[in-house]
Amino acid sequence: MKLKNVGIIGLGTYVPERIMTNFDFEKIIETSDEWIRSRTGIEERRFASEEQATSDLAAEAAKKAIKKSGISVEDIDMILLATTTPDYPIQSTACVVQELIGAVNAAALDVNAACSGFVYALTMAKGLISSGMNKNILVIGAEVLSKCVDMQDRNTCVLFGDGAAAAVVSEVEEGYGIISQFLGAEADTKGSLRTPAGGTRKPLSQEVLEERSNFLQMKGQDVFKFAVKALPKATIEALNGAGLEAEDINMVFPHQANSRIIDSASKRLGISMDKFYLNLNKYGNTSSASIGLALGEALEKGLVKKGDMIALTGFGAGLTYASMIIKWCY
Ligand code: ACO
Repeated sequence: MKLKNVGIIGLGTYVPERIMTNFDFEKIIETSDEWIRSRTGIEERRFASEEQATSDLAAEAAKKAIKKSGISVEDIDMILLATTTPDYPIQSTACVVQELIGAVNAAALDVNAACSGFVYALTMAKGLISSGMNKNILVIGAEVLSKCVDMQDRNTCVLFGDGAAAAVVSEVEEGYGIISQFLGAEADTKGSLRTPAGGTRKPLSQEVLEERSNFLQMKGQDVFKFAVKALPKATIEALNGAGLEAEDINMVFPHQANSRIIDSASKRLGISMDKFYLNLNKYGNTSSASIGLALGEALEKGLVKKGDMIALTGFGAGLTYASMIIKWCY
């Protein structure tokens, strides 16, 4: 059986209106714009309104991606929604999005691979379409992290933001689309990046609320050490899979967690920083949304053109890491 070529035929993004700057954080916790900018590169991030949940952001991005792709919403036969911040503990957020956008012919499920989620979900979409099982898959990365981090914990709350990115994935012309991919995981037994309670290990209780363990907790330096190895490793694996060298890549879209991590990856890979697209200064770390948000912004600016070879590369809770090489097809 000949496998089909698979690629992204439309991409859309959405961020909430509310801007939360580093200076706004100075008013609520002991921190400074200088500390946040120099350690992470982040200047501001977007926060969802009280009424907005992850599905609302996802649906806005999805509608734009579908419009761009030129297909109709009824042609979508699968929704793969990457998120760590679902609307509800039970009921996939993908099913909520199905209703919001009217994708009546789609199956729907969530993918939880944290910040690697967008690349994980794109990889699954490629497998399903190349084998002929599906035709048009809507891949979404969406997060409302502002409601899942502890606004009293300066180690985490300044890092994250809310947003969504969506891609319509379909068969594309020969020679274009997703050329190769690499997915990896390394179980985080020490809890370097985890929400310790609120799940089945430690259900929500008065004690949990008092100790605030229903919010994300992070050992920043442990994650940093993992990230500076994982990003280059995933990218090299994907490059090898594509039979390409680092210099063949026109632009890299890394997970937007910390500019120092990206700087280190740039040196290890021998790819200059000007090929790495960064917008974390404006949005912070939006986990599964971050790579798609960066790609969407670059597309809008005309920085990615048909035939360009791009790399998507990320790492996140789990711990997970992932990379993908795409020959852009529109
Ligand atoms: N403002 C001011 N000071 C702070 C803040 C803050 N917001 N946060 C921490 N500090 C303090 C610490 O308390 C510590 O003080 P101490 O020395 O008196 O104890 C000091 O700053 C240094 O803290 P470090 O943790 O050593 O700072 P570091 O240089 O490692 O930077 C950071 C911290 C930015 C979190 C870094 O470790 C990092 O980026 N790690 C990776 C995190 C990451 O990428 N996470 C997302 C993964 S994606 C996902 O799946 C969700």
